Amino acid sequence: MESVLQTLGALPWWAYILLFLALLAFRDIFLQRAHTITHNFPIVGHLRYWLESIGPEMRQYFVANNREELPFNRIERGWIYASAKKENNYEGFGTDRDIYAHQHIFVKNAMIGYQLPSNHINQKDPYFLPCAKVIGAYNKRKKPFRPASVINVSAMSFGSLSAAAVESMNHGVRLSGAYHNTGEGGLSPYHKKGGDVVFHFGTGYFGVRTPDGNFSLEKMKQLVEKNPSIKAIEIKLSQGAKPGKGGVLPGAKITKEIAEIRHVEMGKDVLSPATHKAFRNIPELLQLIESIAEATGLPVGIKGAIGKLDQWQELADLMKETGKGPDFITVDGGEGGTGAAPPSFADHVSLPWTYGFSSLYRLFLERGLTERIVFIGSGKLGFPAKAAMAFAMGVDVINVAREAMMSIGCIQAQICHTNRCPAGVATQSKWLQSGINVPLKSERLAQYFKSFRKEFLEITHAAGYEHPCQFTMEDIQVNVDDDYLSSDLKSVYGYQKTAVPFTSLNEFYNCIHLGGKYQ
Ligand SMILES: Cc1cc2nc3c(=O)[nH]c(=O)nc-3n(C[C@H](O)[C@H](O)[C@H](O)COP(=O)(O)O)c2cc1C
Repeated sequence: MESVLQTLGALPWWAYILLFLALLAFRDIFLQRAHTITHNFPIVGHLRYWLESIGPEMRQYFVANNREELPFNRIERGWIYASAKKENNYEGFGTDRDIYAHQHIFVKNAMIGYQLPSNHINQKDPYFLPCAKVIGAYNKRKKPFRPASVINVSAMSFGSLSAAAVESMNHGVRLSGAYHNTGEGGLSPYHKKGGDVVFHFGTGYFGVRTPDGNFSLEKMKQLVEKNPSIKAIEIKLSQGAKPGKGGVLPGAKITKEIAEIRHVEMGKDVLSPATHKAFRNIPELLQLIESIAEATGLPVGIKGAIGKLDQWQELADLMKETGKGPDFITVDGGEGGTGAAPPSFADHVSLPWTYGFSSLYRLFLERGLTERIVFIGSGKLGFPAKAAMAFAMGVDVINVAREAMMSIGCIQAQICHTNRCPAGVATQSKWLQSGINVPLKSERLAQYFKSFRKEFLEITHAAGYEHPCQFTMEDIQVNVDDDYLSSDLKSVYGYQKTAVPFTSLNEFYNCIHLGGKYQ
């Protein structure tokens, strides 16, 4: 033994490298059968796997041009990062976009824009931009709610996001007057930092479930009673990235904390089925909405990605017939994000936002129901010009998920499903999330929302309006083809949105149902 150690000690440094490579080659050829490439090309085969693993970063940093990447290109990400840090978010020298490209949108500016009167609330607060409609007003819910911000945090649960990320977002919405949608994972302590909350549940009924996995109205009622920050309830029918796809929360991932928040047992796999147990058809869905609204006093809405329209038609007909229905409808686009989804779903199931929303809105418009509903849009809408398009089409409020993640440091590594998020945003690793400075990131989310609202107001004023709810389909032009180059939204989608009753932003400031901490 001593002589072996002596021989090893006498070896030069390069001999160790050779020895290591020889052992690696031996292992590649004789000890592993999982990888053909490393078996056939020992040692160098590893390079392929390594290069493949760092490929996305290489392309993102060095190869891709400013407008090339998806889901969000460098210019879009840069605008969010700069806005969140209150840095210079302008671009110099003019646009680098091909403004004749298919689907490019233009906001039509007025000859002379809207001028703020001296006593206008935006003179004092250039970020004040609440929703023009009150959620739950039509259905006379006991506690109607006017979101104090037109941009809000979309459904993302504690579980898919880290505790530090959820906490940063909740402080951030508190600071910016927005609301925070809980996502499917229940109401965690990190959602209780003072921001307005929209409680969201899906087929797993996390946080409001019976031991056998059904929906518990009693638990829902108690949750709302204990948590006055909950301002509305959203029933998830589907989301754009994976409509109709259930999920499994592996027992191994269920910590004591998650078990308590979600009302599930520790150590046992938990299934989120593909469909709901609490209702099987549209009349039962309507019934559920009414019982939750009745029991809690809160506005209740539904979230869905749009594909076939027949059941939506049935819902609209029933709403007309009964005078009841959801207080809000969140329409998610097929381009929407997720913590994890099979590519076949993410890429192909459900329509992109503009197609889905326009067909759905038209359906409610034809039945004279649009005034009763607050329409919420999500699907890469967290940019002022895209928001202008969405408002022109009939949206009243925007929800953002990935844009909110980016504002607190997400670098679009696209590995949310691996628990290895390098930015600590979409991971449960204590080490990775310890890099998140919660007070700083809260400020960033708040600042992104404020910068968004300020720029959105500026675009609105340029178009001659005081509030974006005044945008019409004729105010936005979209490139449709080469010969008939562009057309307004009204001609492209074949409807004109219902005018939203609007008096003044000053009036909204004094509204008793206004969320946030304005009063
Ligand atoms: C990490 C992550 C988790 C999500 N979790 C949920 C969820 O629990 N329920 C849901 O309806 N949508 C969920 N979504 C979808 C978003 O709420 C949103 O509808 C979609 O990402 C589109 O918005 P965006 O383009 O601004 O990201 C999630 C998205 C992400 C990125």
